[in-house]
Amino acid sequence: KALTIGLIPADGIGREVIPAARQVLEALPCDIMPSRLSFVDLDAGFEYFQKHGVALPEKTLEALKDSCDGALFGAVSSPSHKVAGYSSPIVGLRKKMDLYANVRPVISGAAATASGEKRAIDMLIIRENTECLYIKEEEQHEGPNGKYATAKRRISEFASRRAGEMAFSMALQRENMRQQVPLAERTWKARPKVTIVHKSNVLSVTDGLWRETVRSVYTGNSEYSSKIDIEEQLVDSMVYRMFREPEAFDVVVAPNMYGDIISDGAAALVGSLGLVPSANVGDNFVVGEPVHGSAPDIAGKNIANPIAAIRSAAMLLERTGYGSAALAIYRAVDKALESGQIKTPDLGGKATTTKVTEAVCKLL
Ligand code: NAI
Ligand code: MG
Repeated sequence: KALTIGLIPADGIGREVIPAARQVLEALPCDIMPSRLSFVDLDAGFEYFQKHGVALPEKTLEALKDSCDGALFGAVSSPSHKVAGYSSPIVGLRKKMDLYANVRPVISGAAATASGEKRAIDMLIIRENTECLYIKEEEQHEGPNGKYATAKRRISEFASRRAGEMAFSMALQRENMRQQVPLAERTWKARPKVTIVHKSNVLSVTDGLWRETVRSVYTGNSEYSSKIDIEEQLVDSMVYRMFREPEAFDVVVAPNMYGDIISDGAAALVGSLGLVPSANVGDNFVVGEPVHGSAPDIAGKNIANPIAAIRSAAMLLERTGYGSAALAIYRAVDKALESGQIKTPDLGGKATTTKVTEAVCKLL
């Protein structure tokens, strides 16, 4: 069996961190990664748009659909002003490949915690990626007291169910992977737990449907209900608890906008943007993507932190059925961070992208 990965570095430091991630994937020893890996280089991005008039070429989409099992996306330099004919390729990719959940792990490593104190944060946030307020059905009106505006919020059973399904199946998948870590090194709670975020005390119809649907996924599956604990958290107290006791959370599942806010907030708990990975996940495809942007201020200098991209590559492996290989990468990264020697400037060090990548490869 072979695993084919599409590589879409796109713009800026995407062109530095995606090759770094590839290098780490290629360094996996074959007893850990039993399948042959092959890579397909693909175009997209703002620079590509400036040359060719399209940001996400059909050729790239076709290659992904026809010959790839998953992909890695770097970052795109989307302009802040409107540019005629341009739309963000990563947003397009999520739509066209039906990547309906955005998955973001938030993990503290020794070097990652800004305060230096070691708290074992190991959360996985699952954000529904297709509806909620982000359907962008906004309207402006004229009323007796002047202008006002309204926005529609859509919550469906269909989208809530698949987000819930993703959360519970990932909770189990995480647990299986964790079982491979020696007992003495485990920092997490004994049983997997899913926290359902909502605000159905106020929005009883929309968030009510979300809550009920996600709960029904749990109660309707005996494996989930026997192996996983669930809890509910109103979104406002979720933020409060997350800052007070982030180590209390395991998998967190939230509607689109709550998930957006919680996941950026959670990233602040563990330090630099250069460390935080994500994956855009659908039933048939996964695109790993570092959370950061194209970082034009440091692009081309070989100082971008490649760890977010490397961890995103591990997420891709985890999702395509190579949990042991993913775990090996996570642990190599942790070790590299813990050594404290090999840090890029965003973490206060002097190491280059190349040096950090080589260190991780060596630890594999
Ligand atoms: P940014 O994430 O590119 O950079 C913010 C700050 O973090 C910069 O100082 C940068 O040097 C630093 N940084 C980011 N990643 C780093 C890494 N791996 N290692 C070391 N330092 C890192 O966000 P910014 O500056 O707001 O946006 C720049 C461009 O990126 C914009 O065109 C924006 O549209 C795009 N962007 C794209 C995203 C994507 O592709 N999904 C997400 C966010 C922004
Ligand atoms: Mg966001």
